[in-house]
Amino acid sequence: MKLKDINKICVVGAGNMGHQISMLAALNGFKVDCIDSSREQLDKAEEFADSYLPGRVSKGKLTEEEASRIRANLVFTQDIEAGAAEADFAVEAVTEVLEVKKKIFRQLDRIMPPKAVITTNSSFFVSSLLAGETKRPDKVCNMHFFNPALVMKCVEVVKGQHTAEETAELTMELARYLGKVPVLLKKEIYGFLVNRILAAINNEALYLLETEVASAEDIDSAVTNALGHPLGPFSLMDLTGIDLSYHITMERYRETGAAADKPSPTIVEKYAKGEWGKKTGIGFYCYTD
Ligand SMILES: NC(=O)c1ccc[n+]([C@@H]2O[C@H](COP(=O)([O-])OP(=O)(O)OC[C@H]3O[C@@H](n4cnc5c(N)ncnc54)[C@H](O)[C@@H]3O)[C@@H](O)[C@H]2O)c1
Repeated sequence: MKLKDINKICVVGAGNMGHQISMLAALNGFKVDCIDSSREQLDKAEEFADSYLPGRVSKGKLTEEEASRIRANLVFTQDIEAGAAEADFAVEAVTEVLEVKKKIFRQLDRIMPPKAVITTNSSFFVSSLLAGETKRPDKVCNMHFFNPALVMKCVEVVKGQHTAEETAELTMELARYLGKVPVLLKKEIYGFLVNRILAAINNEALYLLETEVASAEDIDSAVTNALGHPLGPFSLMDLTGIDLSYHITMERYRETGAAADKPSPTIVEKYAKGEWGKKTGIGFYCYTD
């Protein structure tokens, strides 16, 4: 299948990622069915579309006609049978639970035309864990967007051993067409590129803090002012949630048992104290003022 053959895209999951991936695809001219089992999540995604598009019109980024054409191409539905039927390309963006994703892959494989490509936006599960649920493993790969998907340029396309060259190329091409700057991983690896590099930075930053080489403020200051990162590692962990850092590293540690994967004592302590960052008002920094 070629890019020109993609007419309809279905996005399964209307949460943080799914509602923005759906909008991104619709903005670029595709018919989009955004599917979720939760009516509440679909209503939120629909409300977002109904405020985002007029916002683009008032900023002069879209004409009224373009906005109404895009809106007409966006369907929000609980009905996966109707939503995935006739879709040429799927992005699965449901909750990060393997069994849930496996079920969605089985459904999409049954419903979608045999030529269609099925991708997952999972942050950590490689698509070889899902490809076996389908009769088209060659048409399965990872297409990993970053949050917020409408803004962040990077998309990681991960080619598994089962993925056909053509599928990886088409996914790269689609990402470019959506205005992204995709990167190709030629083989599967835990954490892909970005989350591995981020983990390495976070681990080093935690080591420097725990060995009292410098304060969190100074480490963040060095990373922003010398390396040009928009946020230092501690501010970023506070933003994304120290509970998330804890769960990701604990899960990995349970899996590998390797000393290098053991969560840092600081993360374990902050997790136990409920100091999870911005969401709890305190993390590495205090947010109560
Ligand atoms: N949040 C991020 O920063 C981020 C970034 C990149 C990738 N991801 C990945 O994207 C995926 C979704 O993450 P999110 O943050 O949008 O999660 P979310 O919790 O905001 O949304 C997940 C959605 O999946 C829906 N869902 C659950 N089971 C379903 C089912 N059986 N059928 C249909 N819908 C179902 C839920 O109702 C929910 O709306 C995950 O795999 C995650 O790893 C997340």
